Amino acid sequence: MQSKDYIEREDRYGAHNYHPLPVVLERGKDIFVWDVEGKKYYDFLSAYSAVNQGHCHPKIVKAMTDQAQKLTLTSRAFYNSQLGEYEEYITKTFGYDKVLPMNSGAEADETALKLARRWGYDVKGIPDGEAKIIVAAENFHGRTITIISMSTDPDSFKGFGPYTPGFVTIPYNDTDALAKELKDKNVCAFLVEPIQGEAGVFVPDDGYLKKAYDLCKANNVLFIADEVQTGIARTGKMLAVDHEGVRPDVIILGKALSGGAYPISAVLADDEIMMVIKPGEHGSTFGGNPMAAKIAIAALEVIKDEKLAENAEKMGQLFRSEILKIDSDMIELVRGKGLLNAIIIKPKNGKEAWDVCLKMKENGLIAKPTHEHIIRFAPPLTITEKDILESVKIIAKSIKEIENA
Ligand SMILES: Cc1ncc(COP(=O)(O)O)c(C=O)c1O
Repeated sequence: MQSKDYIEREDRYGAHNYHPLPVVLERGKDIFVWDVEGKKYYDFLSAYSAVNQGHCHPKIVKAMTDQAQKLTLTSRAFYNSQLGEYEEYITKTFGYDKVLPMNSGAEADETALKLARRWGYDVKGIPDGEAKIIVAAENFHGRTITIISMSTDPDSFKGFGPYTPGFVTIPYNDTDALAKELKDKNVCAFLVEPIQGEAGVFVPDDGYLKKAYDLCKANNVLFIADEVQTGIARTGKMLAVDHEGVRPDVIILGKALSGGAYPISAVLADDEIMMVIKPGEHGSTFGGNPMAAKIAIAALEVIKDEKLAENAEKMGQLFRSEILKIDSDMIELVRGKGLLNAIIIKPKNGKEAWDVCLKMKENGLIAKPTHEHIIRFAPPLTITEKDILESVKIIAKSIKEIENA
């Protein structure tokens, strides 16, 4: 079978809820992936930042295959021999009392919303059914009905109502708007992405997160950071909030918590918050399974052992400075932190970001537009200087070829 046969089969039997680049991947190793024809590519998406540790990292694969042969799932109806070790490891790593393990990022976000509301009622004393959560415009927290109820992107929410009430939307990067809404005594939490990834890698002003955190504290409101995309070293620190020395009340992690091997997500908080949830009030059949526990420890160890946060910081700076050297009016702007970066593409001769991505694919690098004119560049954090330089050459060549087409 050729790529086109695989694509036709997916189109025929799979729901059309994605619009993939026409490349059919078969194998991955570190920063590279290979398609079914054997062509090699730099992976500059890293499965939306889930593969921070590089594809099929041997340590993560070993943890996974070892545990797969022993015990995969018990459900939380019983204890298992791996979960406690993971819970201790992750809470000590991030400095929180407790973790609540889930699977997808969206589930972890939902968990945080439930925690926040329950804390609002039980601890803050908000009248039952009246809790509000402040969210930022252009957010992306996943795809469930409640999460799309917080979205301002019509592609996410349009046609899926009725929506979950209880959310107040303010502009991102706007602490005045936050201060105003925090005056409402029924607000229990502010949920924010430290950098808005899906929206197109919007980096807020320096000091925004700190100021927002301080405002929340002054108003007895939980500051919840959705680090599903920005966390686990992607932006050059273990957590993106670390850039501003902020310690959120609740942290949401996912994606690279497994290095891309398995769906693993987590919510971290201290006892005052986490203990409001009682047995039977929240959970998931797969959350906290022994495979996930083993894999997540290995995935976090790789980040620490290989100093991937430091590498992301260095390589990110190199990437942005090299991109800025490309002489093209199709590059309107480069922005990002660590290895979470985006280029805003100015369309030329009817060619846009999608065409640039197709051309880069032809030239051996895959990335995808997040919105019409924005291409996100997020390679595995194991990338070296030599490969950054090589990748930028491919990006430059592709943009030139599109410009001159
Ligand atoms: C910030 C953020 N939160 C949540 C999610 C949802 O994660 P998942 O797709 O695993 O449900 C994403 C996915 O891109 C994300 O970027």
